[in-house]
Amino acid sequence: MTVEIEYFGHSTFELRTGEHRILIDPFLGDNPLTEMTADELNPTAIVLTHGHFDHVADAVSLAKRTGALVIANFEIVTWLGKQGVKNVHGQHQGGGFQHPFGHLKLTVAHHGSMLPDGSNGGNPCGLLFTFPEATIYIAGDTALFSDMQLIGEAGIDLAILPIGDNFTMGPEDALRAVKFLKPKRVIPCHFNTWPPIAQDADAWVKRVEAETDAKGTVMQSGDIFKL
Ligand code: NI
Ligand code: MN
Repeated sequence: MTVEIEYFGHSTFELRTGEHRILIDPFLGDNPLTEMTADELNPTAIVLTHGHFDHVADAVSLAKRTGALVIANFEIVTWLGKQGVKNVHGQHQGGGFQHPFGHLKLTVAHHGSMLPDGSNGGNPCGLLFTFPEATIYIAGDTALFSDMQLIGEAGIDLAILPIGDNFTMGPEDALRAVKFLKPKRVIPCHFNTWPPIAQDADAWVKRVEAETDAKGTVMQSGDIFKL
């Protein structure tokens, strides 16, 4: 079996494996990089890295319509409960759990996590998925940190890393992250959504391939990547 990954721009991805459709950080209606709306997606699970608007914007409406299981840190799932979302699973940094779709561990991320209404969204997280077919690390919004070396010890088939700069790692630090993580493949995200995070992702992938053993792929919104 393969893991199929569709990109909707910014940090919104859907991972598909078997009958599972795992939507990461749904930001659709207000996302300038996609025409897709939340009404067109039918995830079986929704996973949120942190509370910022550009990661949770469509989570409540999607969760209510589809009944998908929403996984996030404890503070965010508590907030979702107050919005009327019933099917939630709280985890936190360092904690892993075997879900029906595979194992998911929340990892450290260095960033903020305030929810759209100003509520406390706890600490931001990265996501380490272990599927039978592949191990996928989604860094979330984060600065570079040297413990990425420890995360890399899992043996990462694919790392999805922010390169936009301004709010997260920029190209230089994301390249250092690849050197720490040693993934087989890497996909950049969180760039070109707005002017402050405009980046040349093709140039970044060329540097990754010149300076590391990882192979890089620049996904455009609507692209599907098979692992
Ligand atoms: Ni953020
Ligand atoms: Mn963000």
